[in-house]
Amino acid sequence: MEKIVINGGNELYGEINISGAKNAALAILPATVLAQDICRIENLPDISDVKLMVDILSLLGAQIKYINRNTLEIDTRFVNKCEVPYDYAKQMRASYYFIGALLGRFSKARVAMPGGCFFGVRPIDQHIKGFEALGCTVNIENAIVDASVDGCMYGSSIYMDVVSVGATMNIMLASVKARGLTIIENAAKEPHIVDLANFLNTMGADIRGAGTDVIKIRGVENLHGCTYSVVPDQIEAGTYMVAAAATGGNVLINHVIPKHLESITSKLEECGIIVEEDDESVRIISNGRPKKCNVKTMPHPGFPTDMQPQMAVLLTMAEGTSIISESVWDSRFRYIEQLLRFGAKVQVNGNLAVIEGVDKLKGAPVKAVDLRAGAAMIIAGLCAEGQTEIEDIKYIERGYEDVVKKLQNVGADIKRVEIRDPQATVVSAG
Ligand code: EPZ
Repeated sequence: MEKIVINGGNELYGEINISGAKNAALAILPATVLAQDICRIENLPDISDVKLMVDILSLLGAQIKYINRNTLEIDTRFVNKCEVPYDYAKQMRASYYFIGALLGRFSKARVAMPGGCFFGVRPIDQHIKGFEALGCTVNIENAIVDASVDGCMYGSSIYMDVVSVGATMNIMLASVKARGLTIIENAAKEPHIVDLANFLNTMGADIRGAGTDVIKIRGVENLHGCTYSVVPDQIEAGTYMVAAAATGGNVLINHVIPKHLESITSKLEECGIIVEEDDESVRIISNGRPKKCNVKTMPHPGFPTDMQPQMAVLLTMAEGTSIISESVWDSRFRYIEQLLRFGAKVQVNGNLAVIEGVDKLKGAPVKAVDLRAGAAMIIAGLCAEGQTEIEDIKYIERGYEDVVKKLQNVGADIKRVEIRDPQATVVSAG
């Protein structure tokens, strides 16, 4: 069993380099299936979700060559399967991007219903609405999504009932080789949506408007291989921005696109944190005890839901009482139970969390209940007095490359320990 052990209280000073965006990589990798060619993908984050995505590609018949830990060459010429089994799909929600990609390549796909972090019900009705609008028949039997179309798909206008990152990406994947024009209205506008569109266009697709709420995809006959570098991870960057602000440090965060961080920067400045922007970096300078502020999570360009747990930790130590409203997911406050173990004062009522600032958090043994909640536990441990032990760190390693090393490099007393069994001493510390 692995744990992360933190002795809190160190301010963070130095530089952190941000990796490629997980949520862009998890759509770009399946998209390589659409070109019967070789794609070279650079700046991939070295995280377990990417490794799982690569395993699924290999299962389908793709040939993978690791140039280095962040660069892959993916040859999809010999992909000859259209099925992603439950054992793989259940581990990661993004496995459903293979429905759109396999439909685009083979006009059929059988992918088990996705797994992923639990934030309440995570339906896929908008994905299905898009595939059916393109002319597909979609059935769900024994938790398998079975989608197919006789002949080819035809472009269509699709108005999304809900702003959905996944459905927007999946419809783009399915429609790039459909006959005619597809228009996605009320589309999601996240940076990773734009990155997928840029990747597909680099392969020869014809997609316009990504990043706005109307995306137009004109179908093309074929897509070809290409070389592409994944966009920097907005949420990884935001996580370290909050960590620096919460610990009272001064950290330069490199390899970012400041424009993607605007809503996070704005909230931190509202809390009294100093944020200095440069072309590809932001510097976070804490400025005494953070001030309270209210946060409402929204689709991009609003405050990202994937930054909600991290921001909550900062606010547990702010001056005054703050309110967080989670408007994207039904229940994304499961981690609060863990936060209370640090002595935080939080009351959750439906999709609202009321946070009364305390002077100090105290270290505690806690669990990572999901990916971003795990990141929040790390931030709390960095700030808390005494020792914090975090279990279930597999969730954290799904989305944060070298998180322990990156934090050690800016002065955090943090290590990853492997414990054979609870009574045993530390087997190895990293
Ligand atoms: C993506 O999930 C991200 N995951 C999530 O990040 C992120 O929280 C979410 O987008 C919102 O930004 C990946 O990109 C792999 P949605 P996704 O479809 O696509 C409802 C992380 O930490 N909805 O935008 O599953 C849904 O219930 C992860 O990196 C429908 O009703 O999210 C939710 O309320 C966690 N029907 C809202 O839309 C649908 O068919 C947004 O979901 C689809 C979604």
